[in-house]
Amino acid sequence: MCGIIGYAGSEQAAPILLEGLGKLEYRGYDSAGVAVCSRRERRLRVHKAKGWLHVLSDMLDGGAAVEGCVGVGHTRWATHGAPSDINSHPHLSRSGKIAVVHNGIIENYGELKAFLTDRGVPFASETDTEVVAQLVEYFYEDGRVDLLEAVSRCLRRIEGAYALGILCADRPEELIAARKDSPLILGYGDGCSFLASDVTALLRHTRRVAYMDDGDVAVLTKEGIRCYDYLMQPVVRETVYVDWAVDAAEKGGYEHFMFKEIMEQPEALRRAVFPRLKDGRVRLEDLSLSGSYLRGLRKLYIVACGSSYHVGMVGKYNLERMLRLPVEVALASEFRYMDPIVDENTLVVVISQSGETLDTMAALREARRLGAKILSIVNVMGSSIARESDQVLYTWAGPEIAVATTKAYSTQLAVLDLLGLHLAEALGTMEEAERDAMAAELLALPEKLERVLAERDAIQYCASEYFNRGSVFYIGRNVDYALALEGSLKLKEISYIHSEAYASGELKHGAISLIEEGSLVVALATCGRLFDKAMSNIAEVRSRGGRVLALATEDRREEMAKTADNVVAIPNTHPLLLPSLGVAPLQLFAYYVALMRGCDIDKPRNLAKSVTVE
Ligand code: M6R
Repeated sequence: MCGIIGYAGSEQAAPILLEGLGKLEYRGYDSAGVAVCSRRERRLRVHKAKGWLHVLSDMLDGGAAVEGCVGVGHTRWATHGAPSDINSHPHLSRSGKIAVVHNGIIENYGELKAFLTDRGVPFASETDTEVVAQLVEYFYEDGRVDLLEAVSRCLRRIEGAYALGILCADRPEELIAARKDSPLILGYGDGCSFLASDVTALLRHTRRVAYMDDGDVAVLTKEGIRCYDYLMQPVVRETVYVDWAVDAAEKGGYEHFMFKEIMEQPEALRRAVFPRLKDGRVRLEDLSLSGSYLRGLRKLYIVACGSSYHVGMVGKYNLERMLRLPVEVALASEFRYMDPIVDENTLVVVISQSGETLDTMAALREARRLGAKILSIVNVMGSSIARESDQVLYTWAGPEIAVATTKAYSTQLAVLDLLGLHLAEALGTMEEAERDAMAAELLALPEKLERVLAERDAIQYCASEYFNRGSVFYIGRNVDYALALEGSLKLKEISYIHSEAYASGELKHGAISLIEEGSLVVALATCGRLFDKAMSNIAEVRSRGGRVLALATEDRREEMAKTADNVVAIPNTHPLLLPSLGVAPLQLFAYYVALMRGCDIDKPRNLAKSVTVE
């Protein structure tokens, strides 16, 4: 969703802002803009344009056309008001003295707009954000308060979520930042300060960052950053060093981030798993759950959205088998409204790549209110979900830029399996030999996954055969069903082909009526004990004229080839780990199909990487 970058220093701000916005493009946007403060002129220059960032950048000659050393930039993902030049950020106050960029939603903007309109303030845009610029100016123009106090008064009046960057023409050396329920990071440079929605925008400039807390306000200048808490008391936020490689957030010769990230999965798995498996034993040193707490556990609840939810679906099958405890999985957006049965004997496992998904965050808070302990599985260090959890297991996948998640899914799954082994050992619910066998296979996953990825030409061939289908079904049983959900989502989000996932046994209860000559069904049949059942379901599809692209394990390849039209095989592994290998062909299939359809793979229409609105 919206991305923010801010700079206060001695260099020309606009080129730095445009370069930073380039790093935030992956979050999803429909327009972009910058505001720069010129000390010489003591005025704000705002430039914005609907469309991709290069439209703005070309307009400003890469930033060279704008003079000033303090500024903010923004990529907008429309909520209030259609994508247009006028609705793009930054928004100016009526005198042009205050400029604001915003990520989040001001829920009471209607009421505030009416308040200001009644006092003669004209509005230029349809956005909720403009009220912030107008309200800051309203308090500031009063003349009795300074800028910081005007900002603070404005923040006390607004409801909703916000990450804000605010400039004032009277204070050409300052940039003000404020956050509540939307991520905002401060960056400490050499003779300069930065502001950004996420660290990828800062990596080229600094690795020393601090995460703003909810309610914080910060004043950035080239000399440094002053931070205040929600009571406007000075505070010092801990700085952390970000060790992500600069090129981790760059394409490095690949045509698309998604493909690069698919190929990075073996390495990401090594990072997530190897340090946590010592002498065949799981060692989750980042976790501290006491024996008495674990013995009192009655239920696990997994809460997440999108692909992270699909990881939870695999987790339900795996963890129930490993722990003999009930595991419920809920969509975060539903959890808070369904009156969930959660108490202090429930461990709520929150899964989120970004650590900023608003629905997931709201579910986390609801679970905490109900007394549960929160353990989160998160990729982005210092993210809001990580910081509000009792326990955090990081996935260490490195930055994931493509909107369609791949390596984050794989590492989330591996970390969930590690958690299962850890809990199974503590609860004594798995034989040692069984745990050892699974741990050994977890260690073997990266190498096996490399073998799967090496077979990508065969998947590309399948994509060339099916890329023009109008609708695709994914079917599977047990963990294959959980995997079908992810395969189907991957295809629809980047190729725009309608696709649905069904538990194989459910097909005959309705959806089979849609199968006709040439319909494509991707049949997942990796679960050895359910292979015969899978074959029966494939036969049902074929006898109605459907085409079947099947996923099976290597030992079943030949058998499957007798029935399915196309077969992709994955190496055999521990039954609970099959989705960790099976997901890669599905990612590649979606990728190649989207490529052949000429889709914008890394930035699919209407989607955002980090979903920070409800
Ligand atoms: O950052 P999160 O894991 O919380 O994001 C949740 C979903 O928005 C995300 O998994 C989404 O479904 C993916 N982009 C799908 O590829």
